Amino acid sequence: MFMNFRRIHKCQCVQLLTTGLVLCMVMVCWEELDHHVVSHMKSYTYRYLVNSYDFLNSSYAITSNDYERKTHPNSLGDRLMNYPYLINHPDKCVSVTGYGERLEDVLLLLFVKSSPENFERRQAIRDTWGNESFVWSQLGENVRLMFALGVHPDVGQRASVQSALLKEDKTYGDLIQQDFLDTFHNLTTKLIMQFHWGHMYCSRARFFMSADDDIFVHMPNLVKYLRQELSSQSDAKDLWVGHVHRGAPPIRRKESKYHVPYDLYPWPSYPDYTAGAGYVVSGDVAAKIYQATLMLNSSMYIDDVFMGICAKAMGVSPQEHVFFSGEGKAPYHPCIYDHMITSHGHATDVRSLWRAATNPAVYSHSRGFMGNLYCKAVKVMLLCPPYYQNTYSCMAAFA
Ligand SMILES: *[C@@H]1O[C@H](CO)[C@@H](O)[C@H](O)[C@H]1NC(C)=O
Ligand SMILES: *[C@@H]1O[C@H](CO)[C@@H](O)[C@H](O)[C@H]1NC(C)=O
Ligand SMILES: *[C@@H]1O[C@H](CO)[C@@H](O)[C@H](O)[C@H]1NC(C)=O
Ligand SMILES: *[C@@H]1O[C@H](CO)[C@@H](O)[C@H](O)[C@H]1NC(C)=O
Repeated sequence: MFMNFRRIHKCQCVQLLTTGLVLCMVMVCWEELDHHVVSHMKSYTYRYLVNSYDFLNSSYAITSNDYERKTHPNSLGDRLMNYPYLINHPDKCVSVTGYGERLEDVLLLLFVKSSPENFERRQAIRDTWGNESFVWSQLGENVRLMFALGVHPDVGQRASVQSALLKEDKTYGDLIQQDFLDTFHNLTTKLIMQFHWGHMYCSRARFFMSADDDIFVHMPNLVKYLRQELSSQSDAKDLWVGHVHRGAPPIRRKESKYHVPYDLYPWPSYPDYTAGAGYVVSGDVAAKIYQATLMLNSSMYIDDVFMGICAKAMGVSPQEHVFFSGEGKAPYHPCIYDHMITSHGHATDVRSLWRAATNPAVYSHSRGFMGNLYCKAVKVMLLCPPYYQNTYSCMAAFA
């Protein structure tokens, strides 16, 4: 009887699976359906069953040859290369020694995507996790932090904001700005600027990171993680790590900020990519992404999706790290600070969080058998309640 029951169970499972599969196939083919749940189903199905994004290479290749470039001087590829720097620091990664100039051994080149008017956010980052001398004196590593900017989109405010930026840069020397409008739809241009700057002026950096200016980075934990990667077997090659979006569907609702029309991206699913809030790539991957930006059409204006397209074309896949955040803040608790790498949405509380999260007492909470048990319980309670959307998944409690 037990056997019988099991057989029935198995049959039903197979039936259910087949039905699901057929439904999914129908939905992939059914272009008219455009509902939130449906688009996710379609997208996952595409990602896991079809799973070929070969078309990206050919569809996004810049087709213009030299002849076309001459006849169409405004072709996208050319235009993007040519935004001049308004503020630049070519020597950021250079050290001058008795033997002349050379590129320094930089562990991490970190670009923070900032908007011209966000003076306060930049200041809070400089005073806390972005303090290069803190990393050098406390952790013994060379980190370079720069803010990536375009020009203020509002013509009326541009002159005054620009002169404030020049003054700010005179004091801190950490702004990189090109002459394009700093708007949401120019974020891909900003991404390209970051990889091109890295290639030009800091190509020896072992890791490259891109982050939003309302993010919190637990620098000591990040440095520790990067060192582990360097001493691992892979020698920190081929690394692209962050909060991974797998099989995300393009948003077709016109009201959405992330709306992408069919003629820009006709397929039901994006290639895998990491949330733009903060991700890290190894130096070799940064070089590959740079190459891809030269070959691919950058009209996809969602910068993290464009990054996914570039990576796919170069055969690089993203890796999930449970303590990199997507949207949303990490819970405020010492047991979380112990492992956190990034947390999103900290425009105003960076200073207090930095004090709390880097307090040496944080590590004592999880020490010993009891401490470990206590922290595990706390993490399960904070990260695993059903229906509670957190920035770290429940898996992070068991990592
Ligand atoms: C890039 O793609 C867009 C939209 O698909 C197209 O209009 C444009 O001509 C393309 N540019 C190049 C240089 O191929
Ligand atoms: C940066 O860190 C150094 C070394 O720990 C410290 O002396 C300095 O005050 C910090 N700077 C700021 C702006 O907090
Ligand atoms: C991006 O910047 C360029 C150069 O300033 C500008 O012409 C273009 O309109 C901007 N695009 C968007 C979508 O804001
Ligand atoms: C094209 O796409 C595949 C992955 O789909 C990748 O492995 C290959 O290297 C790509 N690049 C070029 C230039 O063909």
